[in-house]
Amino acid sequence: MPKELGKTPPMGWNSWNTFSWNIDEKLIKGAADAMVETGLKDAGYEYVVIDDCWSLKERDGNGRLVPDPEKFPNGIKAVADYVHSKGLKFGIYSCSGTHTCANYPGSFEHEFVDAATFAEWGVDYLKYDYCFKPKGIPGELLYRRMSMALRNCGRDILFSACNWGNDGVHDWIRNTGAQMFRSTGDIQDSWNSVKNLALSQMNMRQSQSGVYCWNDLDMLVVGMRGKSDNSWIAEGGFGCTDDEYKTHFSLWAMMNSPLMIGCDIRNMSEATKNILTNKDVIAINQDVEGRGPIEIDHWCNESCKGLVKPLENGDYAILLVNFMDGEHPAQFSFNFWDMGLPYNSGYALEFYDVWEHKVVGTFKERYCTDLKPHSCEMFRVKLVKTDAQGVDLNK
Ligand code: GLA
Repeated sequence: MPKELGKTPPMGWNSWNTFSWNIDEKLIKGAADAMVETGLKDAGYEYVVIDDCWSLKERDGNGRLVPDPEKFPNGIKAVADYVHSKGLKFGIYSCSGTHTCANYPGSFEHEFVDAATFAEWGVDYLKYDYCFKPKGIPGELLYRRMSMALRNCGRDILFSACNWGNDGVHDWIRNTGAQMFRSTGDIQDSWNSVKNLALSQMNMRQSQSGVYCWNDLDMLVVGMRGKSDNSWIAEGGFGCTDDEYKTHFSLWAMMNSPLMIGCDIRNMSEATKNILTNKDVIAINQDVEGRGPIEIDHWCNESCKGLVKPLENGDYAILLVNFMDGEHPAQFSFNFWDMGLPYNSGYALEFYDVWEHKVVGTFKERYCTDLKPHSCEMFRVKLVKTDAQGVDLNK
């Protein structure tokens, strides 16, 4: 049933952030094992995706892509079969230009033969990049081409477009048939990178993302802790704190981004695992209506933001983030008026904290809290009938 692909934001793991060109059969099989053993699969992650650098530098005599025999001695189909045997789905990477970003053959003018090859190998997901795009041909047309090839290759293959937000992609990508689209440049394992990517895609950008075609803020850096074979992604090797990774995951979940893990899932700390498998947070990301959040600026500090997202059962998700640097917490006052709930409505909001997994109180008119720099609070809130008295304003 192809129409079900991308009904909610895709979830999985991708090799690029940690391993870049250092990929092989053992790594991918190990990632599939880890996906099951660590509980990631149970939490909803399903795609295991090989990124760039998996093929030889030349096509074969029939114009087909050839897996690098040193990295993948049994070919790609054997890896896909293994991934499938774990109850997971398998993804691979190509590029709309003549070459991939790491200079391997791209799919330009080979779209239909490549789609057929991927189908034969058992591919379920294709990430499609934008390097070496020939001049004079619109990128939009290249994504239309590969989408058509995939939709007619005889297998359900999710199409993950990756043109980094260029050429007005938000306006045309849904109509090409892609199920997700990268809207930003490449993420790095640092707070500034996480912050800049998130801030670049708020408000209007969020209403251009939804069911069957999701705005992809890039693979997660949660849990990388500066460890990457790619020094540009590692960005100094310091990584983020667990608190920052928690804010990062909350933002991606709240903004309906696909959740593609980028750390080494074979070696995760408990803290990393707890962040990535938080079912309450994931449920907000996977809400069937897929409505983007509205952004509510803090009245006294533009670095503090509230995001509010309507959920299918009448609840709302609320994320409060302090983007500021420094030592001191920000005082946050979130007014329900801004999300559509006037004081005289007769309703208060019951706040369930999705990180603490408990109800923290019922509030009327506003919710006040102190937020440390780079930290967040995230809630699922429910409307409850109340009289004007007897309800806490502060926690
Ligand atoms: C681009 C993409 C990355 C990754 C690399 C691979 O930079 O944006 O996500 O796929 O190419 O070379």
